[in-house]
Amino acid sequence: MTHLEKARSISLSPLPRSRFEVDETAKSTVRLLIVDDEHSLRESCHSYLASEGFQVETCGKGKEALELLTRREFDIVLLDLFMSGVPGAKLLSVALTRHPRTIVIIMTGKPTVESSLELLEQGAWDYLTKPFSATQLRILVGRAVHAVLVTRVAESAGADVEARFGNTDKLTVLGTSPAFRRMIDLARKVARTDASVLITGESGSGKELVAEFIHRHSRRSRERLVAINCAALPDTLLESEMFGHRKGAFTDALRDKPGLLEVANGGTMFLDELTDMSPAIQAKLLRVIQDGVIRRVGSEDVDAVVNVRFIAATNRDPRAAVEAGKLRQDLFYRLHVVPLHLPPLRERAEDIKGLSEYFLARFWAQHRGAGEAIPVFSEAALRTSQRHSWPGNVRELQNLVEHLVVVTEPGAEIRPGDLPFIGGAVPLDDEPAPPPRPQPVGPYHAAREHALAQFQKQYLSLLVEQARGNMSKAAASAGVERSTLYRLLERHGMHRSVEDGRTPGADVEKPVAESPQDVAGIPDAVANGPAPDTP
Ligand SMILES: Nc1ncnc2c1ncn2[C@@H]1O[C@H](COP(=O)(O)OP(=O)(O)OP(=O)(O)O)[C@@H](O)[C@H]1O
Ligand SMILES: [Mg+2]
Repeated sequence: MTHLEKARSISLSPLPRSRFEVDETAKSTVRLLIVDDEHSLRESCHSYLASEGFQVETCGKGKEALELLTRREFDIVLLDLFMSGVPGAKLLSVALTRHPRTIVIIMTGKPTVESSLELLEQGAWDYLTKPFSATQLRILVGRAVHAVLVTRVAESAGADVEARFGNTDKLTVLGTSPAFRRMIDLARKVARTDASVLITGESGSGKELVAEFIHRHSRRSRERLVAINCAALPDTLLESEMFGHRKGAFTDALRDKPGLLEVANGGTMFLDELTDMSPAIQAKLLRVIQDGVIRRVGSEDVDAVVNVRFIAATNRDPRAAVEAGKLRQDLFYRLHVVPLHLPPLRERAEDIKGLSEYFLARFWAQHRGAGEAIPVFSEAALRTSQRHSWPGNVRELQNLVEHLVVVTEPGAEIRPGDLPFIGGAVPLDDEPAPPPRPQPVGPYHAAREHALAQFQKQYLSLLVEQARGNMSKAAASAGVERSTLYRLLERHGMHRSVEDGRTPGADVEKPVAESPQDVAGIPDAVANGPAPDTP
């Protein structure tokens, strides 16, 4: 019995219909080709996929495969790269150049990151790591079939896929430095595939923005991008938010509730702060990534089968997290198919001018009157910025520019001394920073609120940076609960709400009530906004 056959029995029990289960007529129009020289694998894949209703052909010889791929068009090709006689790369390139719409899934033993990346860059759609189960095959082929049908609908309507299924809302991702361009080019390439992505980079460097960029450039862009912050929630709550729960699973579970993985069905799930997820939840997640099968908390059965693309992010070194036993190695490899690293802002000084001017224009339009002339950055101010170390990266720059927008006179020139850097400005060797110019004072309450908000933002940026993005550590050194820290970050737009991606108005049943002690022990000015004192 092959591995695949063994696993077939698993899928014989009826699984709940996934949202993208395709009707029988559509299935019979999907043309699949299996290329593998291993007879038993080829045959078991064939009988399984044919029994699902697809048109399936097989091929066991490299040369024949080459000929078939040149001559005929298939919708989906399952391709083993190690065929005798013809190099695998040649097979892939023929499959893709002759028929660019063909979806090629590579079947391979343990792929290295480098080899995976190379193949995805060449246009492979995803991987099936050998040995695989029937369920894994079914989930992956199911995703590919969905993509094939989406493309057909778009084409029959005479539209190009990106125009029809691409999300045209504006998403501004700026950067012209070589390091940033390399990263964004790779993000654009990987967006077209369905592979998992792991984004690394310091706090505030733009990981979440890039995750959104990938989603919006993917075939899933019409569906949801659901984000969950793994560090912001206690374990039990994170588990029930992700997987959902059955009625009675815990005291407050008054009814069945789907989790965010079900909400993300058809779309993309963004797992932020991945390394903060507990090992038990990591194991559960791995099953969903591999098999698409969801078991809600308190459930013995399979509650749903989902089709989700995963993008994870962390501001820590994921390999070190694996070594420290914080991140499961199998999960790391599963998500690390395409690693994307966001360079810190200090290493791409060329981007600072564009970002500064963009934020200035955006916040000026938002906060100031239409008739007020927009200030300009002096060359010296930009040069000073380029020498700053930007521990809070793009977010720090954005906060700094927003501050400037509030305090700068219309039409003024912004000089080095006007820049309120965290930890003070970096003095330029050639020109000592002039003393800050006096600012108009304005009403006391507004000025105090502004100053407090500024303090909070700077404090939080520095706090998170010093803890190297480790939220538990940051919370401990601030002397507050982690959930309090997240609330503060969210208040200042420094972190997306954990509820994002939820259906508006969807109820939130929480197994663990947030204790009122969470906010105890933190100075009012930080926890609850301005203190109630008066002059
Ligand atoms: N290249 C960019 N162009 C425009 N805006 C950017 C860029 N990079 C980051 N930003 C903005 O900077 C802010 C921080 O980015 P983001 O939230 O994506 O960072 P992050 O790496 O996820 O941070 P954290 O590790 O703290 O979660 C956001 O408001 C984002 O829109
Ligand atoms: Mg983030």
